[in-house]
Amino acid sequence: ANQWRGVLREYADRLNISDATPIITLGEGGTPLIPAPALSARTGARVYVKFEGMNPTGSFKDRGMTMAISKAVEHGAKAVICASTGNTSASAAAYAAHAGITAAVLVPEGKIAMGKLSQAIAHNAELLQVQGNFDDCLDIARDLANNYPVHLVNSVNPDRIEGQKTAAFEVVEVLGDAPDIHIVPVGNAGNYTAYSRGYSEDLAAGRTTKMPRMFGFQAAGSAPLVLGKVVKNPETIASAIRIGNPASWELALAAREATDGYFGAISDEKILEAHRILSAEVGIFVEPASAISVAGLLERSAAGQIPKDSIVVLTVTGHGLKDPQWALRTADGSDITPTVVPVDTAEIAGVLGLSKA
Ligand code: F0G
Repeated sequence: ANQWRGVLREYADRLNISDATPIITLGEGGTPLIPAPALSARTGARVYVKFEGMNPTGSFKDRGMTMAISKAVEHGAKAVICASTGNTSASAAAYAAHAGITAAVLVPEGKIAMGKLSQAIAHNAELLQVQGNFDDCLDIARDLANNYPVHLVNSVNPDRIEGQKTAAFEVVEVLGDAPDIHIVPVGNAGNYTAYSRGYSEDLAAGRTTKMPRMFGFQAAGSAPLVLGKVVKNPETIASAIRIGNPASWELALAAREATDGYFGAISDEKILEAHRILSAEVGIFVEPASAISVAGLLERSAAGQIPKDSIVVLTVTGHGLKDPQWALRTADGSDITPTVVPVDTAEIAGVLGLSKA
């Protein structure tokens, strides 16, 4: 039987690649678009979740990384570098390992989730914890790429955005047209830019009849695009999007303009509430940064900004297993400890509230 061949092969005619491009793939893309009746019921819209945690390293970064690493190898690179809040480093490390080249990654000390750190180390990256935040890491990664023989694979590399636009193509193929509204988490705003590009290419090619409105959400403590200014010391429990100076700032503003879009800010408390709703009512486990799409939908719905029966797609960007600790905490912040029981059927039945038929 045929299997999904990864985004470079599936969309070869829509990407800037040639016969000379080696295809470094782990089978990324082809992720499910999952109807979410519980979110439809809460909002009156027809809500779908694009579950990017299903990618090979558990995040949407793989779509851009297959492209960036393939192009880097095409151009003879032996080493790549990136700054990361975790997912980019996991992805760069995996694709570099597959290609047989070196990945160096700079992460903010103590601020990336354990799952992501484990991935980068497992895939043999040269991982350095920088005594600064993500924005500091990106400044240094750019500096190194400008002055030393290493190839930058952050989303300031246009190949990344190119690969990531394929997620919009997949949504359109499933729905038969663009959605009315598309919601994404925003950190560097690379993904927001990539979806906008994918949808505008689909529209130009006649595959769709409209542009979706692009809604992007940042954590309240790290919301430079909402505030209109750099945030010096960004804070949020959603470590993936703890970014104060987005790399794709200008592109994101242009995309908001072109799509009649919106940027909003969400508190950590609301992010965790949405995380619980998505896990418990939809059955999709994500990392906190991804839950902001759900929180953003609920916020816009409460504000009367989600028309009834409109088609809304939420991208959830990273898998819950990368940063699972949040599931074991209640809304008021106390720890959840599962009940311990003896090896005794009757007693366990009692605890479960079961009585004999
Ligand atoms: N969601 C997750 C899970 C992410 O890891 C990121 C970015 C985003 C959303 C935001 O995407 O930056 O394109 O706006 N993570 C980067 C990283 C910064 O290093 O892994 P964006």
